[in-house]
Amino acid sequence: MKTPDFNKLMIYARAFSKYTPEREATLVEASRDMLPRLAEVTENFYATLQSMPETRSYIEDRLDALKGTHHHWLEGLISGPCDVNYTEAMYKVGDVHVKVNLPVEFMAGGICLIQDSFIALVTDIYADDPARARAVLEATNAALGFSLMVMQESYQASSLAEELEKFLAITGMSRTLFNNLAEAYKT
Ligand code: HEM
Repeated sequence: MKTPDFNKLMIYARAFSKYTPEREATLVEASRDMLPRLAEVTENFYATLQSMPETRSYIEDRLDALKGTHHHWLEGLISGPCDVNYTEAMYKVGDVHVKVNLPVEFMAGGICLIQDSFIALVTDIYADDPARARAVLEATNAALGFSLMVMQESYQASSLAEELEKFLAITGMSRTLFNNLAEAYKT
């Protein structure tokens, strides 16, 4: 499968999700207050996934390991930096989910669950400062939107690769010929 241009993907996903440098700075600053309570976000996430028959079967045999990985990822999400390395790492996380055949909508659903917990957490931490709570939540929403876009890019790449495999099998065309034609017709 073709490796994406992670710098280009980062710029695109940051613009679309409105994850600006100012929002990233707001989130990184707030991470000092949020880190001690991050376990709540992970616990809520897996409690919901365990409660739904559609998601439970994917996680029940490795719950503790998944909680650890998820917590570690959340720390990175809020502590930054959201750079090319983070973009590449999120693409790989997307790929891990593709490989275990997780339906694509699990990514959007999962991100919704995380933002839901962030709303409760952040409004509680900054109960006396609604303007700050709003700014931090705008930042978490953007950071999560960014991560979702990058993970879904893996799903898209894998589905294109599958289509190509089918095309080659049906037509009997060799991969070399296909690559040569694709190169010749590049715009
Ligand atoms: C949408 C937000 C999600 C994030 C940010 C996330 C994050 C992660 C991370 C960081 C890993 C470790 C990747 C690695 O090994 O390098 C992982 C693995 C995994 N996740 Fe998620 N995850 C999400 C949603 C879900 C959902 C909704 C499910 C299932 C209901 C799920 C099931 C799994 C499983 C089964 C693995 C382990 C795959 C394996 O190693 O065989 N994830 N996830």
